Amino acid sequence: MIKSPICDMLGIKYPIFQGGMAWASNYELASAVSNAGGLGIIGAGQMPPELLVQEIRKAKENTDKPFGVNLIIYLTYIEELVDAVIREGVQVVTTGAGNAGPYIKRFHDAGIKVIPVIPSSALAKRVEKAGADAVIAEGTESGGHIGEITTMAIVPQVADAVGIPVIAAGGIADYRGFAAALCLGASGIQMGTRFLATKECHVHQNWKDMVVKASDRDTVVTGRPTGHPVRVLKNRLAKMFLELEEKCAPVAEYEKLGTGKLKAASVDGDVEMGSLMSGQIAGLIKEEKTAKEIIEEIVSQTEDFIKNTAKFIK
Ligand SMILES: Cc1cc2nc3c(=O)[nH]c(=O)nc-3n(C[C@H](O)[C@H](O)[C@H](O)COP(=O)(O)O)c2cc1C
Repeated sequence: MIKSPICDMLGIKYPIFQGGMAWASNYELASAVSNAGGLGIIGAGQMPPELLVQEIRKAKENTDKPFGVNLIIYLTYIEELVDAVIREGVQVVTTGAGNAGPYIKRFHDAGIKVIPVIPSSALAKRVEKAGADAVIAEGTESGGHIGEITTMAIVPQVADAVGIPVIAAGGIADYRGFAAALCLGASGIQMGTRFLATKECHVHQNWKDMVVKASDRDTVVTGRPTGHPVRVLKNRLAKMFLELEEKCAPVAEYEKLGTGKLKAASVDGDVEMGSLMSGQIAGLIKEEKTAKEIIEEIVSQTEDFIKNTAKFIK
């Protein structure tokens, strides 16, 4: 059985996280992943605090296993979301976009583990110093907001830079990615795009179908000039963002164009003008499955693969 220090730290069976995804990972997906032995994570995104509380309570009704909440730190009302998470007694918080440092002590005092998503070893060292329990090293192959370093390059460098467990994210959707992550020095993996195409993921069927249909060249990065690049599936909206880049448009124009577009993808299934965040690994995903099927398959195939790979050592 594949087990690593992160399993004991969090009380989970397998070292597999379902990445927190704004507008895409609610309590249904998170509790299904946790029930299957991984760590399900509710993507709080820009949810109002009352909605996040409801999501956490529903997750608790659906699983007795640990689950997490992903918080976007730069939000103006982040304090209220932090209070809600602490009050509701979540076991794990992962943090995206922004400095988690100022909140770590409060989470720890409430018995909550803190695992920031980081795009570089410098940031990994900084959050370790601030008290983070582990880090998620996320490569540029990922869906959603991204850094510039590939998973292949960032994971071993972060693993060397810090003493806390490292979870590899970006471009992982099957046993080969899982085994590779372990070889690179990770204690576990986080998958986002793979879990988009699941029965329990509540995003519109049109978005899931686009992920299943995608090939390896179907994603593109938009928004680089704003300092917040995002990887999405190519569509009309992505093309319009790229046109803004060509004409060196002011940041305000990106903001105007981007408003409400994740909701358009998730709720309305607008595959032309919705923001279809997705990673490069979408091309490997050929069908929608349940979270349990994905986790059981990846665990057993990774175990077999690692055992069989030993035969190359003579
Ligand atoms: C639709 C979507 C939304 C995402 N939203 C968030 C988010 O709100 N916060 C965050 O830290 N990461 C977010 N991510 C990143 C994932 O949590 C995860 O790290 C990433 O998807 C891993 O790469 P992969 O897509 O190649 O599996 C998002 C990813 C996707 C695909």
